[in-house]
Amino acid sequence: MNIYELIKKKRDGTSLSKQEITFLIDHYTQGAIPDYQMAAFLMAVYFKGMTSRECVDFTLAIVDSGDCIDLTAVNGFKVDKHSTGGVGDTTTLVLAPLVASCGAVVAKMTGRELGHTGGTVDKLESIPGMQLDFSQNRFIDIVNQIKVCLISQTARLAPADKMIYALRNVTATVDSIPLIASSIMSKKLAAGADGIVLDVKTGNGAFTPRYEDALELSKIMVAIGDGAGKQVEAVITSMEQPLGNAIGNALEVREAIETLAGNGPADFVELVTALGAGMLRVAGVAESYSKAVELIKTNIANHKGLETLRALIDAQGGDARVIDQPDLLPQAEQSVLVKSEAAGYVQQIMAMEVGLASKTLGAGRMQKEDEINPAVGIILKKKIGDQVHAGETIAVLHTDGNRAKIDSARAKVLAAYRIGPEKTVPPPLLRARVSKKGVQPVKI
Ligand code: URA
Ligand code: CA
Repeated sequence: MNIYELIKKKRDGTSLSKQEITFLIDHYTQGAIPDYQMAAFLMAVYFKGMTSRECVDFTLAIVDSGDCIDLTAVNGFKVDKHSTGGVGDTTTLVLAPLVASCGAVVAKMTGRELGHTGGTVDKLESIPGMQLDFSQNRFIDIVNQIKVCLISQTARLAPADKMIYALRNVTATVDSIPLIASSIMSKKLAAGADGIVLDVKTGNGAFTPRYEDALELSKIMVAIGDGAGKQVEAVITSMEQPLGNAIGNALEVREAIETLAGNGPADFVELVTALGAGMLRVAGVAESYSKAVELIKTNIANHKGLETLRALIDAQGGDARVIDQPDLLPQAEQSVLVKSEAAGYVQQIMAMEVGLASKTLGAGRMQKEDEINPAVGIILKKKIGDQVHAGETIAVLHTDGNRAKIDSARAKVLAAYRIGPEKTVPPPLLRARVSKKGVQPVKI
């Protein structure tokens, strides 16, 4: 077996055997296959694709390149979730405690920002004292006590994915559906959960803007999960505008707290309900999807999810008083109103532009070494379908007072909003549910 033959086979559209795929990943990870040959192989995959069986083998070979988190010492069915990347997407902060309060177990690894999207680790670190790095034993102890713990992703998780992703990033092979699917699933499978719910985004802020591509990505990821013996379900959701109203680390924590207290923005609550219900069903906590939806709504209304968030913050060393006194979260020095020049109705809010505006204010890193300012970010005052008068505030920037950053973020926010004469109905947020049983509508 040699790499030249494998590249040629894939180039000619032949599928590779499990042995060939394992050879490829093992030798690449050990440095025995140079980047230029791996890059040629990835480009061949970009054009010729991979079968479902090849995707399973490719993913499992990537999982085997590093550590797998062993969660057998955790009691109960462990359920995880993953989003393919949204703007202002605070779902993990809400879902982890909410689903745990309903009886599922959430032992979750979580990451930092990627591109224009924020990271859950960065958001949680805005809570004073909050720890996200634990020994495996401490992690398991916390989960066994309160059914939930969030931990920062280790470097030893699927290292082959890190190497391949870096190569894809510079060879125009990121947007290959089989490669995205195996990249995401390798990290999820290595993280040790028994079941996974995937939030697959479609629309202007997503890796797969076209619905058909999001559907294909969902189907492949469900098939990979099945091939690995896990329960996996995907929910396709629209990213035509940022989720909820808050973008920025402490601002999103505050929004998560408000949501668990029953005062969340409508679109965000809808998403949390659909994904949470999926997690409960995958975990076998509820026997039907509609029962699971009911349970999620109940535990928002009775604040059980909020109380579990309090316990989670407390167990991880954070200041749990933020639940009742969110002003204890970092506060920005200055608020700046962004006013619309146009009048009419909001037609669209480019999520990626808003994500980048928030990053400009300091909510994300421009360079790897940059420190995040947890206090800064953006609160949207208008969403798709809302009426806007000329001179009316459409968004509020929470800033450190730096003029250049404010001007740049204001321009980005104004450019992100498309305001026109007709009243627009927001596109449906929940598009479809994809499982082994097929594609179904999402009813909540
Ligand atoms: N997220 C990932 O982890 N990998 C991809 O390839 C795309 C999104
Ligand atoms: Ca939000």
